[in-house]
Order: sequence, then C-alpha cells, then structure tokens
Amino acid sequence: MQYYHNKTILITGASSGIGIAFCRQLASYGADLVITARRRDRLESLAQELHSQYDCRVMIITADLSDLNGPEFLFREIEKSELRIDILINNAGFGYNGAFVNGNFEMYEQMMQLNMNTLVKLTRLFVPRMIEQGHGGVLNISSMAGFLPIPFFSVYSATKQFVINFSWSLWNELKGTGVNVSVLCPGPVDTDFINVANVDKRKVAFRGLQSPESTASKGLSGLAKNVPMKLSRSLLRIPYLFSRWVPVRLGLLIGRLAMNKQ
Ligand SMILES: NC(=O)c1ccc[n+]([C@@H]2O[C@H](COP(=O)([O-])OP(=O)(O)OC[C@H]3O[C@@H](n4cnc5c(N)ncnc54)[C@H](OP(=O)(O)O)[C@@H]3O)[C@@H](O)[C@H]2O)c1
Repeated sequence: MQYYHNKTILITGASSGIGIAFCRQLASYGADLVITARRRDRLESLAQELHSQYDCRVMIITADLSDLNGPEFLFREIEKSELRIDILINNAGFGYNGAFVNGNFEMYEQMMQLNMNTLVKLTRLFVPRMIEQGHGGVLNISSMAGFLPIPFFSVYSATKQFVINFSWSLWNELKGTGVNVSVLCPGPVDTDFINVANVDKRKVAFRGLQSPESTASKGLSGLAKNVPMKLSRSLLRIPYLFSRWVPVRLGLLIGRLAMNKQ
C-alpha cells in the first residue's frame, strides 16, 4: 500500500497478535518501524524477521505503557534517535472478562491507563509534528465491545467506547491538516487477548474468530483512506447498527448473555 511506503511508523503492542500482523504488513509496504511492548525477546525476533525478509529498519523500545511515565519515556527515546514518526498505531490494550467486583482495582487502573490515557498521551505527543509537516496518521484500536456497555466486560467496554468517541472527534478536528485519523473496531480475533482477558471461548460471541492478519489489513486500509471508523469485517455492521438503534436495556441483556460466565 503506497500510503505507508517510506513512512516511519510507531506500533504499540507489537509483540503479539494484531500488533505483529500490523508490523509484517507495514514492513512489506516498505515502511520503517518503531516497535514497542514489554517483552523484548519477542520484539527482537520480530525485528530480525522483518529485517531479513523485507530489509526493514526496525527500532525496538521496551516500555510498560500502563506506567504513568511510559508514553513520555517512549517519546523521549524516539526524539533521541534521528527518527521522526509519520504514523502512530495505538494498538496495545487488554481486557478482563468477569464480575466487576472480582477484578482487583490495580488491574482496572492499568487497563484504563493503557487503553485510554496512554493512547491519548501518545497522540498528544506525536500529532503536533505531523500537523507541522502537513501529513501523518493515527490509527486507534478499539473493539466492537465499545459499541455498547457490556456487563462482565464493564471496564474494558467502557475504555473502548472512549477510544471510539475520541477518535471520531479527532478525525473531525484534524480535517484539512493532512493528518488522517481512523479507529478500527474488531470483533473477536484469534490472539492472546482471549487468554489474557480470561474469556470463555465457548461463548457464542467468541466463536468464529477472525485472523489477526485480516484484522490488521482492514485497519491499515481504513487509515490510508482516512475512514473515521472501520469495522474489521462487514458482518459487524449488524451489531454496530443494532447498538445505534436499540434501547440500551436490550443491548445490556444481549451483552450479559454473551459475557456472563456463571
Ligand atoms: N483479540 C481480540 O479479540 C480483540 C478484539 C477487539 C479489539 N482488540 C484490541 O486489539 C488490540 C491488540 O490486542 P491483541 O488481540 O493483539 O492482543 P494480544 O495478542 O494480547 O496483544 C496485546 C499487546 O499489547 C501489549 N501490552 C499489553 N500490556 C502492555 C503494557 N502494560 N505495556 C505495553 N504493552 C502492553 C502486549 O505486549 P507485552 O505483553 O509484551 O507488553 C501485546 O503486544 C488491543 O487494544 C485489544 O483491546 C482485540
């Protein structure tokens, strides 16, 4: 995809799942990458693979982005290098499926920090230079879980709703600056997310998982075309339209059936 050729792209959550798929596709389009996550060994083997397969330049920065200082640290490390970020992909995130009172608050704090604050902070840090240079892009990863409130996925679905609203607003604000903004809303994808979130795979909502590759490719085409919101598969139009038009109470009932583990 020409839009990504010769661009320098920062991808958070690059050590696994959809993040790896973004990296492989971007490297094949001729982009240079800055990849970040906590697990350095995984980032190193990905960087080696991308370098040998696509001759891609890859900078690795390990960081805990649920840490308050994580985004600033990442920004400073990149500033110290000669690289300038053209496109930011806010992909790192995690969820928790279970009764709200069973999850500990520290975990919720980390989730809110990573899924929302870090995403906003990184956007605030990197977008000004994109505006200055008259081109750039921000791709935020939300979820179909952000369409409606979901019992037993309560904090996660709220963080993803935040990402959707923030992204739509920013897309509108940045019109005419040359900076594209898009939010990708995937349905269930076959990644570690499901284990980390402790989701019951037998639930109907988690059957028929999409591949990380096709999910990432939808997101990249959405950002290249400056589409404000991209669903990872056309079937998701149904829950999306449903979330717009049905009363919240009915949505809650369906969400509860989908995610309640008792
Ligand atoms: N899979 C799904 O069903 C699904 C559906 C809709 C939306 N999404 C969204 O898609 C995005 C990618 O998830 P995925 O499915 O690819 O899951 P994944 O395979 O679990 O990958 C999550 C990535 O986030 C990174 N990460 C987690 N905590 C971090 C922290 N504290 N600091 C820095 N990096 C951290 C992980 O790296 P380290 O552990 O190495 O730090 C990993 O690279 C997430 O935002 C998720 O909410 C996923």
